[in-house]
Amino acid sequence: MSDSIGISLLGAGNVGSAVLDTLLADVERHNNLIGTKLKLNYVLVQDVDKHKKKSPNIHFTKDFEQIVNDPDTSIVVELIGGESPAKDYLSKLLKSGKHVVTANKDVMAKYGSELNDLAIQNNSSIKYEASVGGGIPIIGPLSRDLLANEISSISAIINGTTNYMLSLMLSEDVSYEDALEQAQKLGYAEPNPVNDVEGIDATYKLAILCGLAFHVDVDPSEIYSKGISNIELQDLKYADELGYSIKLLAKADLIGNRITCLVCPTLIPKSEPLSKVDGVLNAIQLKGNLVGQVVFEGPGAGASATSSAILGDVIDTAKNIHSSWKESSNSILNKIQINDIGDFQSRFYIRVNVIDEPGVLATIAGIMSEHSISIASVIQAASDPEKNTAQIVLITHDASQKNIDLALNTISKEKKVDKIFNLLPIVN
Ligand code: HSE
Repeated sequence: MSDSIGISLLGAGNVGSAVLDTLLADVERHNNLIGTKLKLNYVLVQDVDKHKKKSPNIHFTKDFEQIVNDPDTSIVVELIGGESPAKDYLSKLLKSGKHVVTANKDVMAKYGSELNDLAIQNNSSIKYEASVGGGIPIIGPLSRDLLANEISSISAIINGTTNYMLSLMLSEDVSYEDALEQAQKLGYAEPNPVNDVEGIDATYKLAILCGLAFHVDVDPSEIYSKGISNIELQDLKYADELGYSIKLLAKADLIGNRITCLVCPTLIPKSEPLSKVDGVLNAIQLKGNLVGQVVFEGPGAGASATSSAILGDVIDTAKNIHSSWKESSNSILNKIQINDIGDFQSRFYIRVNVIDEPGVLATIAGIMSEHSISIASVIQAASDPEKNTAQIVLITHDASQKNIDLALNTISKEKKVDKIFNLLPIVN
């Protein structure tokens, strides 16, 4: 038997460098926890010379085959991100019997079951705590500690970039564009921010959470998703006045054998814990039949926080190798179907600009009523006498997304309706 466990890394960017630094700095503590030595073998990078200059003692390589064929590497940490070539690398590593730790949400959301099966078939393992919620422990609790529960709902703020932007807009009275610029300056938003601001990143993470919570395979492309790019400062201010915060909420509810999944900017009453999760923080709220409601909150991104989740998986994997104990993987059990978004029921916030004339409100109310939508309250938020327009905010009682969409389609064709700005669900 070998007296050490070999580890190699794929990628040495922001998070990869933080993982490397901690691996090298805390080596004694890690070895004590594992019961044997963890030995760094290779780090896959594109520019070997650049990295070699900074860290001459580390064995950098640009050849993936060197790692997958290295008999002395038992654990590989994948931090390349994105679908290609990461998915191919992960498959090859698992087939070759290597244990894998990854932070890759795109790949785990789309191919999690396939990779878990590969791990079982090849006596290897795959762990992915860092793929959702950065440093927040959530994959571990869902795969182990909460297994006895039937989980009935997930409500989560799982995109730090958009949460930072929405918080900043209201607290600093700035526009969406200014908030995005600030998020980019601080490195929270990518130069091309589309994955974060359009809710794509959150759908990947929600698909992973649904797989674990409901034991079902959810294709992220089946999740209804709306980002925050239409949210204006006005919406945040009206919601605030009405007693709500607006958050990009990732939500999944199990009703019978169907789940409703969506990612959407949502009004959350200020009395709810999630409404107070601000800045780059993430939070995941779950309801289980035994445990009741639990909330996991913490830093959802950032190199140091993410490396906490990755190294936790590394140490756990190394301990398992050392004690030759293998965990059974999460199995896909249920034949749960995903609801059409049209069946989604909620109260809704609607902001609309109308010509300020008698009878306009009555026309809107009439169309709502024809579609079985009951209005709970209306505020005339602001008027523009020069253009003869007024802005109104409607709050509905529970209605289906389908009826709301039909009603708004008719309303938008009314001559006296200038523009429908935003339609947002409200947490009940
Ligand atoms: N871009 C993600 C976020 C961090 O803003 O939450 C990585 O998952």
